[in-house]
Amino acid sequence: MQQKILILDFGSQTTQLIARRVRELDTFCEIVPYNKFPENDKNIIGVILSGSPYSVYDKEAFKIDLNKIIGKYPVLGICYGAQFISHTLGGKVEAAGSREYGRQNLEYIDFTNPLFKGFENNSQVWMSHGDTITKLPNGFKVIASTQGVENAAFVALDQKVWGVQFHPEVFHSVQGTLLLKNFVVDICGSSQDWSASSFIETTVKELKEQLKDDKVVLGLSGGVDSSVAAVLLNKAIGKNLTCIFVNNGLLRKNEFEDVLKDYEGLGLNVRGVDASQEFYAALSGVEEPEKKRKIIGKGFIDVFSAEALKIQSVKWLGQGTIYPDRIESLNITGKTIKSHHNVGGLPEKMNFQLCEPLKWLFKDEVRKVGRELSMPEHLIKRHPFPGPGLGVRILGEITEEKVKILQEADDIFIKGLKNWKTSDGISLYDKVWQAGVILLPVKSVGVMGDERTYERAVALRAVTSTDAMTADWAHLPYDFLAEVSNKIINNVKGVNRVAYDISSKPPATIEWE
Ligand code: XMP
Repeated sequence: MQQKILILDFGSQTTQLIARRVRELDTFCEIVPYNKFPENDKNIIGVILSGSPYSVYDKEAFKIDLNKIIGKYPVLGICYGAQFISHTLGGKVEAAGSREYGRQNLEYIDFTNPLFKGFENNSQVWMSHGDTITKLPNGFKVIASTQGVENAAFVALDQKVWGVQFHPEVFHSVQGTLLLKNFVVDICGSSQDWSASSFIETTVKELKEQLKDDKVVLGLSGGVDSSVAAVLLNKAIGKNLTCIFVNNGLLRKNEFEDVLKDYEGLGLNVRGVDASQEFYAALSGVEEPEKKRKIIGKGFIDVFSAEALKIQSVKWLGQGTIYPDRIESLNITGKTIKSHHNVGGLPEKMNFQLCEPLKWLFKDEVRKVGRELSMPEHLIKRHPFPGPGLGVRILGEITEEKVKILQEADDIFIKGLKNWKTSDGISLYDKVWQAGVILLPVKSVGVMGDERTYERAVALRAVTSTDAMTADWAHLPYDFLAEVSNKIINNVKGVNRVAYDISSKPPATIEWE
């Protein structure tokens, strides 16, 4: 049995952070929308209710039937989760005089309560809420307070229900991970055996059961996610898997040939399909980013469908979708940030069912799985690259000529990052999460020799991150930036200006479109 903690998502920005912290405790967890509790799942050992952008009094506030979980599993409510429990079971939640935001100290802690085992006096926690619990339901007991919040944590021991008004999942709650460990391990009884090898074992077994003798086509992108998904599927169904690597005309310089060569060593059945001209034709004249994404998404499906027809009776489309792709595309509040091509960018009507063996994993977990599968290190360390490729890095209309310019500039930047070793011997490429060049839809005046030029500008983008949900611009050395800028302007015809993007995510995003 694959024990799991279930996180009910009420729409908080930190829900995925809760999941990360639980995974760091070598315990599998799943996030499901607040109203999609899987009642027949025998593997659940505990339930966490997340925070929410709403107040319990808002008309649109997300509500659930607590009877389905309380008494059946240990429950931990976080922020809105805690307020919702109190409010629903007869306590009182009121608007705090002012929003309580930031660092607070737990001035009172009931050290005998298992949730606070190992806590220190005055432990610092992170508060972020507009409402506060002013009265607990009958049978509930306060187990921690801050100066401003009396009911900062509560328990109903006989029902195994806990609630915390603060956010244990965020970095500034200094003993937050300990609190989650106390809940997940001591209270819920996790055996902490979720590891890359256990993931491989369970996933291969599940894939065998799910797919039986069915045929699967899988879209490879050359990146770590789809490659790991392919190796896992290959382990499960062998010859019934056909991998397809599409040249959509938006790949990096020489990437189509290089990646196909890379795959030769992995024992996969790979078909390379060059569909660049079809993609260029479909994209001609289109400027709007979401429209471009949808066209590219459809272009992939058209190629997969055509290949599947040749193979005959293919039921499934395999994809290397990972967890953050899904969170950003299918936000619970209904707002799409970007249609990632392998999630929201898919056409509504498709003749395939989706098989996404990595859909619950974060990138670093995918890399661990890849290493456990003995995949080559350069493949595992390859930077993430978006499905729509250079298409989302050419602002405005995409043309073959623009792609060529961008490929040259990008190649100089990426090679530069790989060759530049820092003082600890690690390349800049390995230090940053992801990097690329963006072709801007502006021209500017320059001077080369004695000639006036009027050419394009490009922006370099390099970010540090752990999961692409948030990112900071990488503080690359000035000498390096100077070298790359010179090389691009001297070697890439059509570019006379290079800028460096110093925006973090949020409020910007990693890709420009
Ligand atoms: P943003 O730009 O949303 O990107 O901050 C977050 C991460 O997702 C990648 N990305 C994509 N990956 N299909 C993908 O497979 C897509 O359509 C897509 N769009 C963005 C992006 O490169 C970054 O790693």
